[in-house]
Amino acid sequence: MSNHRFYHGGDYNPEQWLDRPDILERDIELMRKAHVNLVSVGIFSWSALEPREGEYHLEWLETIVQRLYEAGVHVALATPSGARPAWMAQKYPEVRRVDANRVRQLFGMRHNHCYTSPIYREKVKNINQLLARRLGHHPGVELWHISNELGGECHCPLCQEAFRGWLKQRYGSLDRLNQAWNTRFWSHDYSDWSQIESPAPHGEQAMHGLALDWKRFITHQTLDFFRWERDAIREICPEAKFTTNMMYRFDGLDYFQFAPEVDVISWDNYPTWHKARRSEEDIALDTAMMHDLFYSLKGKPFLMMESTPSVTNWQSVSKVKKPGMQLMSSLQAIAHGSDSVQYFQWRPSRGATEKFHGAVVGHDGREDNRVFQETAAVGRALERLSALAGTLREKQAAIVLDWDSRMAMEAAQGPRNIGLGYWDEVLRHYRGLVKNGWTVDFVNEDSDLEGYRLVVAPMLYLLRESFAERLTNFTRGGGTLVVTYWSGIVDEHDLCWLGDTPHGLTEVLGLRRLEIDGMYDGEYRRCRAIDSGLPETAQGSVLCEVAHAETAAPLMVYDEDFFKDTPAVTEHLFGKGRACYLATRFEPEFYAAFYDRICPLQTRLPEPLAEGLISARRGGALFVQNTLSTPVRWEGETLPPYATLVRTEDETMLFAYPEQKGEE
Ligand code: GLA
Ligand code: ZN
Repeated sequence: MSNHRFYHGGDYNPEQWLDRPDILERDIELMRKAHVNLVSVGIFSWSALEPREGEYHLEWLETIVQRLYEAGVHVALATPSGARPAWMAQKYPEVRRVDANRVRQLFGMRHNHCYTSPIYREKVKNINQLLARRLGHHPGVELWHISNELGGECHCPLCQEAFRGWLKQRYGSLDRLNQAWNTRFWSHDYSDWSQIESPAPHGEQAMHGLALDWKRFITHQTLDFFRWERDAIREICPEAKFTTNMMYRFDGLDYFQFAPEVDVISWDNYPTWHKARRSEEDIALDTAMMHDLFYSLKGKPFLMMESTPSVTNWQSVSKVKKPGMQLMSSLQAIAHGSDSVQYFQWRPSRGATEKFHGAVVGHDGREDNRVFQETAAVGRALERLSALAGTLREKQAAIVLDWDSRMAMEAAQGPRNIGLGYWDEVLRHYRGLVKNGWTVDFVNEDSDLEGYRLVVAPMLYLLRESFAERLTNFTRGGGTLVVTYWSGIVDEHDLCWLGDTPHGLTEVLGLRRLEIDGMYDGEYRRCRAIDSGLPETAQGSVLCEVAHAETAAPLMVYDEDFFKDTPAVTEHLFGKGRACYLATRFEPEFYAAFYDRICPLQTRLPEPLAEGLISARRGGALFVQNTLSTPVRWEGETLPPYATLVRTEDETMLFAYPEQKGEE
């Protein structure tokens, strides 16, 4: 993969147009006009590649890859395992997934195969190797796109057996497993491995240790399947590069575990712009947070593998992107470390469930429309910015986002079964930081904290002893640590820590937890500042913890109820650093002030970001973007609606659509 340019293109499904060579020819012409240089092919092509068992047709794909290559368009070559042909589902039922209710699915849809089935694995290996032999050495193949949006669970007998095998490896003995899962509760001790079953709506739901281990097993088994696919290709093309496209806020797979197994991270980005009841800035920050997560997984540029150039078809209401939004949304990915802008999709199907999903080229096949023109503008912008391709970001702040902790937290009963709003909590901290100009990475409990000035642990429910120690050392060594309520509650088996909590952090925080009060939606508890650097008042919500401050200094206290005067925000100077504790969730605006008070950024933005403006830095360039449909001024420049300003050492570039006078 080359780093001297950004990729631009998207999912391309020529297999749906093999009877229309005129359309395929026209696609190539249009791709050139749209400045496209990379398309993903073959994602759902299996029934075209192998229409009957053992009857292969790869020639059409080879012809297309060659034609694209001649036109300067490379491919991300996909393995077709995301959907299988009907003949296979019919002849080999075991390839079809069994749901948690133990019912096997019929043939249909996609992304629903068993990750364990030896037959499915064999069939996948076979088709992958045929593709690798035929096309793996073609100069047009830039990288391999393994399957599509891996996810979901299979509860078939083969998967149950594999789960038991995984548990045996993990625990060695049933005694150890029973202890780890606390099975004496409700008389759930296991006396034989064969009694263990994955969670089910009509079966086990009460054992949190089992639930967490089942989720861990899903990551293990899916990753094993991914490796199977990848290694089948590697046998034939040892130099091949691999990715698999990941998803927004997806909690079904621990993506940190996938990171070392792929050459480049990629993800599919579908912000729901233009929502009636959510600001564009808020949606942009939510999206930025995801980009940052995907950058962080490898600490390297990622690929935005999908995005829509116009509408999606799966939201409750399909909003067209307003003029300029495609450009802004695309450049936002670049600002956060993407090396590509890829779309779903190049051309929409004529029939079936995605026929109304947006595409670069619509059913009318025209190029003189807004979506096509704006796509071409994105292509030109990427060419202008190509010096930034492959560049990295500075390490500044890290937010701890640990999959085990999230998965365990979601299974728990109490203290608030109407939802803990974990992502909302994370987003508040994220917003507070980026509005102050911080570059934010995401880490998990295994990550190295070296190089960060600030580490934030929002709702770190499951906290391993070793990580608590590392957070303590990080603070002692001069770092700033922020920990919130609902942290340090359970160990890695989801067993409650005994003794004072937040477990392992009482010393560094200088306090211990006494009580946790769940709050209804719309219920708030008033807090008041003791420290002048913070907002005078703030409202606690979701969970309100009561803590006893031993050596920590309160910066804010609760101001009503029996909580009155107990700490709501504390600061504790510890070693060369400081540790802060937030006992509740405050309103979104609180966090920018809070972070500016406890850990001001050294490289502040030249001018603060007004409402609607967002920024990000990469490769020495500062991106400032206007998320509003009205012009905004920043640093003496006017940013038109949805415009992006890119400032490097040598120049300032403005990108807007429709293009402004004086631009290229
Ligand atoms: C996902 C899939 C694509 C397509 C898009 C539609 O990201 O990977 O195949 O279905 O959603 O938005
Ligand atoms: Zn299965």
